[in-house]
Amino acid sequence: MINRFFSHTELKTDNGSTRLDQDNIPSHIAIIMDGNGRWAKNKGLPRVAGHREGMKVVTNIVEKANEIGVRYLTLYAFSTENWKRPEKEVEFLMKLPERFLEKELPNLQKNNVKVRTIGDTSLLPRNTVRAVEKAVEETADNTGLVLNFALNYGGRHELVEMVKVLGEDIAEGTVNPEDITENLLSERLLTQGLPDPDLLIRTSGEIRLSNFMLWQLAYSEFWFTEVLWPDFKDEDLVEAVKEYQQRKRRYGGV
Ligand code: FPP
Repeated sequence: MINRFFSHTELKTDNGSTRLDQDNIPSHIAIIMDGNGRWAKNKGLPRVAGHREGMKVVTNIVEKANEIGVRYLTLYAFSTENWKRPEKEVEFLMKLPERFLEKELPNLQKNNVKVRTIGDTSLLPRNTVRAVEKAVEETADNTGLVLNFALNYGGRHELVEMVKVLGEDIAEGTVNPEDITENLLSERLLTQGLPDPDLLIRTSGEIRLSNFMLWQLAYSEFWFTEVLWPDFKDEDLVEAVKEYQQRKRRYGGV
């Protein structure tokens, strides 16, 4: 849907539909992939069937994001709060990164995708950690899309850990409180080296952040859709980017 509050230049294709403005592709897109459970329930399937389908969607969306020129894609795959789910579901979710990478790593390599993670992976099962580390190592020199999985990630946890280390550095005298800046804090977060997301997408009609990238999303554009994650298609991603391109980012200015 075109945002009628802002003037914009529409780029028409031959068939009259708008196409993406290549000069204004969001560099970093973060996605809260929500609605797997409801998707499964609607179909009379167990919740894990929704997660399995959701994993397939990740493959498509990584490809599409790469194709349209997105540079960084952060996916919220498991939050620090998701441990509260039934044991069997947690177990299933924990195995997904390994399953995904087992199948997709050759493709990611071929497409020059670089895998990285944010979150406390030390609490994940050994096999999961091993699969993720292997993917991170093997794709370390790739220069294309950065695919950043948030695994056992929580925004508040990230901030608490950062403050603890900073507190120690201040106590030891290696950081002077006067020298603390936004940049210094950004460089101490798990997203070190990544630009802040330009666009946040959340599926399934929920309109909240759920402890995701609390610092990094300060000036991001938000886009919400009723579509459940397992039903999320390339076209939905394109629609989100189109709407992003109609927004006028002001960063508090006019
Ligand atoms: C939220 O839906 C989804 C999750 C907690 C898991 C996200 C995981 C995937 C999409 C699979 C891909 C993962 C990898 C590592 C490739 P929900 O279960 O909260 O849905 P509900 O709100 O309808 O119950």
